[in-house]
Amino acid sequence: MCGIIGITSNKLVSSPIINSLKKLEYRGYDSAGIATIDSGYIKEVKCEGRVESLEEAVSKSKLTGNVGIGHVRWATHGIPNTINAHPHSSENVSVVHNGIIENSTLLKKFLINKGHKFKSQTDTEVIVHLITEYLKKDNLKDAIIKVLKKLHGSFALGIIFKDNPNLIVGARRGSPLAVGYGPGENYLGSDSYALKSMTNKISYLNDGEFCIIKKDNVEFFNKGGKKINKKILHLSSDEQNYEKGDYKHFMAKEIDEQPNTIKNCVNEYIDKINKDINIFNFPFKEKEIKSITLIGCGTAYHSCLIAKYWFEQLTSFDVSIDIASEFRYRKNKFKKDCLYVFVSQSGETADTYAALDLCNKNKMKTCSVVNVIESSIARDSKFVLPIHCGPEIGVASTKAFLGQMLVLYILCLKLAQKRKDISKKDYLKKIKNLLNLAELVKHSLATENKIQSICSSFIDAKGSMFLGRGYSFPVALEGALKLKELAYVHAEGYPAGEMKHGPLALIEDGMPVVVIAPRDQHYKKTISNMQEVIARGAKVLLITNKSKDEIYSENIWETIEVENTEDDLFPFLVTIPLQKLAYYSALKKGYDIDKPRNLAKSVTVE
Ligand code: AGP
Ligand code: GLU
Repeated sequence: MCGIIGITSNKLVSSPIINSLKKLEYRGYDSAGIATIDSGYIKEVKCEGRVESLEEAVSKSKLTGNVGIGHVRWATHGIPNTINAHPHSSENVSVVHNGIIENSTLLKKFLINKGHKFKSQTDTEVIVHLITEYLKKDNLKDAIIKVLKKLHGSFALGIIFKDNPNLIVGARRGSPLAVGYGPGENYLGSDSYALKSMTNKISYLNDGEFCIIKKDNVEFFNKGGKKINKKILHLSSDEQNYEKGDYKHFMAKEIDEQPNTIKNCVNEYIDKINKDINIFNFPFKEKEIKSITLIGCGTAYHSCLIAKYWFEQLTSFDVSIDIASEFRYRKNKFKKDCLYVFVSQSGETADTYAALDLCNKNKMKTCSVVNVIESSIARDSKFVLPIHCGPEIGVASTKAFLGQMLVLYILCLKLAQKRKDISKKDYLKKIKNLLNLAELVKHSLATENKIQSICSSFIDAKGSMFLGRGYSFPVALEGALKLKELAYVHAEGYPAGEMKHGPLALIEDGMPVVVIAPRDQHYKKTISNMQEVIARGAKVLLITNKSKDEIYSENIWETIEVENTEDDLFPFLVTIPLQKLAYYSALKKGYDIDKPRNLAKSVTVE
C-alpha cells in the first residue's frame, strides 16, 4: 500500500531515491518524503501530495548524504499531510513503514511516559521512539530484535541511524520488502519494480526476517538474530523498463495491449502444434482434487466469480469462491482434497496473502494466479500460474483481469480434460477458440468511439446500474467497479434477475443502465429484464454480440456489439467496452486515471 526505498552508496543518494519513488508512486500517493544522513545528522524533507512536489523541496533543501530512505504514503493512521508523511525521525533514528502497527496506541502511551514527544498522528512514529529507547541500552542489532518483537501488526521497514551512518536496516512482517545489489551500493525496496531501474539482482525478505545493508555488504537475520543466507535472483530484463509510450495514461495503454497480452499468455500455455494445454510440473494428481476454492479481492475476485461458472459447467468439481478478507476470518472447513486458488495481480494483497498463509498453516493444496511472479503470494504458493501480461501500472486493473480470467479458464480446461469431464472434441474446439481470442478482443477495442460519445450520461447521472446473468453478472460487477474507482460516480453491478426483488425501485427516468446480454443461454431472460427497466424510464446501453437475429426490444438507447464466439469466451469480449467506459468517463472529468483518489495499486494493509 505504500512504497519504500533505501540506498546506501559511494555516491549521493537523494536523486536516485526520488527517481525510485516515482516508480513506486502507484503504490501510494497521498504524501512523500526522504531522509538522509547529511553531514552527520538525520535530515528529512517531506511533503503532502506527489513525488514531484518532494523533488522540488529536495532540490531547494540541497539535501546531501550517501545513505537515505524514501517513502510514498497511503494513509491508514493520520490524515495525508506533511507531518504525517514518512520518514518519521528522532534525533538518532529515521523510519519509513508500510503496514499497520496494531498496538501503536499502547506503545505510544508507554513511550510518552518515558518522556518521548510525538509529532504525528501516525502509528508508525511509535517505531522511531521505541528504537530510540532501546538504543539507550542495547546495541543496534539487539535493539532491532527487541523492537520487532514488541510490534503487533504488519510492517515493511527501512531504518537509518545517526550513529551508524553507513547502513540501512530493513525488516519485514506481512508487507513485502526486497534487497537489491548494485555497483558500490545496495538497495532496499518495497518491490522489484522500484529496484529494477538500478539492478536486476534481487533478494526477498520473508516474514520475521531483517537485514543490515551496507554499500559493500548485506547481512540477513531471522527474528532471533541468527544469520541466514539469501538467494540472489536475477530478474528477467524484459520487464525492466515500462513506459506509457504514446499513451496519455498507463490504463489506456494497458487496455489496448490486451490482444497482445492475451496472445502471450495463450502462447505460454497452449501447444499450437499438438493442440494441447501445457501446465508443466502441476504438483497435484487430478484424482487428489475433488473441489476447488477460488479466492481474491476486488477485480481479482470478479475473475474468481466468472471462473466458478466455467468450473461448474466444464468439470465435475465442487467449486466455491470467497472474498479473501472474508475467507481469512471464516470458520473454514479445510479439506485435504480441495485445491485453494489465490488470484492476485500484485501478489502482495494483504488479505489474499493472509488467506494463503492460513491454508499453508493447515497444510492445504495451494496454487496462485499472479502477474508478479516474484511476489509474496507466488513465493508462498505450492504452485504458480503466471498470467504473463507484463507490469500493470494503472491502479485500475484491466489487462490483468483478462489475464486472470484466461489462466483460470485454461486451468479449468486442462483439469476437465485430465479428468475426462469434457470430450476430446470439445477440448480441441475450445483450444481452437482460445487461439482466436486475441483477434476477437481486438475488435472489442474498436467499440471505443461509441463509448466515448455516450460516457457523459454516466458521469452526469445520480448513479447507474450494470446488469447481467450467468458469467455476465460478474462482468457487470467489474464494469461498475471500474466506473466507481475511476470516475468516482456511484454504479452498481447486479444480477439482472434480481432487479425485481428491490433495486428496480432505483430506476427513474433517464437513468443509465448497462445490460450485458451476449446471445448465450441467458439472453432472452436478460432481454426481458432489460425491458423491465426500459419500461421505467432507464436509458439502456445494451452490450451483446453481432447477429442477424433481431433484438427483442425497441427503445434501447445504444447498442454495442462484440464479435461472435462460444459462450464461455464472451466475458473477455464484453468487458472491454466497460473498461473504455470507465476510462473515458474519468478522462471527461479530468481525474487522475492512473492514480485514482484514495486508492493504491497493491493493498498491502488490511
Ligand atoms: C481493481 O481495479 C482494483 N485496483 C482492485 O480491486 C484490485 O483488483 C484488488 O485490490 C486486488 O489486487 P490484486 O489483484 O493485486 O490482489
Ligand atoms: N500505517 C502507516 C501510516 O498510516 C503506513 C501506511 C502505508 O503503508 O503507507 O502512515
